[in-house]
Amino acid sequence: MAKNHGGITRAPGALPVVGHLFPLLRDPLRFLNTLPAHGDLVQIRLGPQTAVVVCKPELVQQVLLNDRIYDKGGPIIERVGNALGDGIASCPHSAHRRQRRSLQPAFSRTCLREYADIMTDRIDTLTTGWSDGQTIEVGEQMYALASDTIARTLFTAEAAAPAVDTVSACLPDIFRGIYQQAVLPPLLRRLPLPSNVRYEQARNRAWAAVSKTISLYRQDGEAHGDVLSMLLATRDDAGEGLGDAEIHAQIMTLLVAGIDTTAVALTWAVHLLSQHPDVQERLRAETAEVLGARTATWDDLPRLDLARRVITETLRLYPPGWIFTRTTSAEARLADAVIPPGTTLVYSPYLIHHDARFNPRPDSFDPDRWLPEQEHERGTLIPFGGGARKCLGDNYAMTLATLALSTIVTHWRLARGGLQEPTIEPRMTLTPHRVQVRVEGLRSEQAAESVRQ
Ligand code: HEM
Repeated sequence: MAKNHGGITRAPGALPVVGHLFPLLRDPLRFLNTLPAHGDLVQIRLGPQTAVVVCKPELVQQVLLNDRIYDKGGPIIERVGNALGDGIASCPHSAHRRQRRSLQPAFSRTCLREYADIMTDRIDTLTTGWSDGQTIEVGEQMYALASDTIARTLFTAEAAAPAVDTVSACLPDIFRGIYQQAVLPPLLRRLPLPSNVRYEQARNRAWAAVSKTISLYRQDGEAHGDVLSMLLATRDDAGEGLGDAEIHAQIMTLLVAGIDTTAVALTWAVHLLSQHPDVQERLRAETAEVLGARTATWDDLPRLDLARRVITETLRLYPPGWIFTRTTSAEARLADAVIPPGTTLVYSPYLIHHDARFNPRPDSFDPDRWLPEQEHERGTLIPFGGGARKCLGDNYAMTLATLALSTIVTHWRLARGGLQEPTIEPRMTLTPHRVQVRVEGLRSEQAAESVRQ
């Protein structure tokens, strides 16, 4: 096996000039899963650049917990910064603590409880629109739910509605573009390829829509009780407010980091329930006991155990954020390797979650592996990353997904809607395509049951 000077094995199959570009574009998940066989640290090539993939949970934890040495950087983070501005998800360690402090209050438990009312309302609106026997395009429905809910959490003012629509429409091209641009060699990134053009246009339109909303909020000067109003009112220790560029970057980051990830998680969860009627029936028994026939709310969350385990298992099987990069800011020692400053490191929740050494039967859907009595090695479940850069919206996403899934199974039986298996497109998130589910209404059965009682 070829090794470089740091003792790190090189993954086989790199082509001259493009390196591992083709497997990374065509079937990156399969490619990633081959890497642990070559070592705990494996070197891959993206065009002229090399990157080291970290293949062991314990080592991934070392990377995530030392965010000063393993700083945000590398091609994916650079593309995120280019698309969104230097917001919290891509800023360097030196700027991160201050940025996190200004955003954290918007994700406190008190705020989440208020956002849960918006979630319940949006879930109700979406699911009462379905009709008995209808085949739904799950991806579209869950995207609509996540984008509507998150955008309303960020800006509630009526005047922001057109911006919400524009950004929601642009996000799919932005996600696709960020991943493609990250793996393309720099020369190809600048060519007017149709995919590059679509990405630039989508990014510019979304950018302009968010700028306009910030100006509208500054002009009307009112507090709307949403995340944008909170950011506009933030003051640092010297009494200084945040500039428009920073507010813009944070709003774009929250939209991009929150919508697609949550929509993708819910899409996979609905798909998996339609494929596993036994789990679906157990979940329905749980919601019948906790909710009866009503929509799930914040106060129900502590009793919706199985719903939470179904979502956790979905995030293990199909982690929406499946690949991330870091750059070493100084020489680092990882396992036995000495890693020079400026090295790109890759960690992949998908790779870790699918390694049979750490998650037995990695490809089966088994929510009970998350029962409290089951033991798991530390760092083997990382859908939200870890350390100081851990997802800021993890509780938001778990709340929305738990409320939505519980309400859906309460009112609808989910059956296979199409013959084809969903395909996965490699973009920023593990997005499934063609997820069709037939929904069978249960409201009339529930009404008859309540008359009998
Ligand atoms: C199921 C849904 C979600 C998943 C799987 C997810 C996953 C992740 C992951 C893995 C990271 C760390 C990335 C890294 O290590 O480089 C992250 C960061 C982040 N996420 Fe999420 N996310 C989800 C939903 C959300 C939501 C709903 C929001 C907000 C509305 C959000 C906001 C953020 C932010 C701001 C960061 C950057 C945190 C920092 O660097 O301090 N995410 N997310």
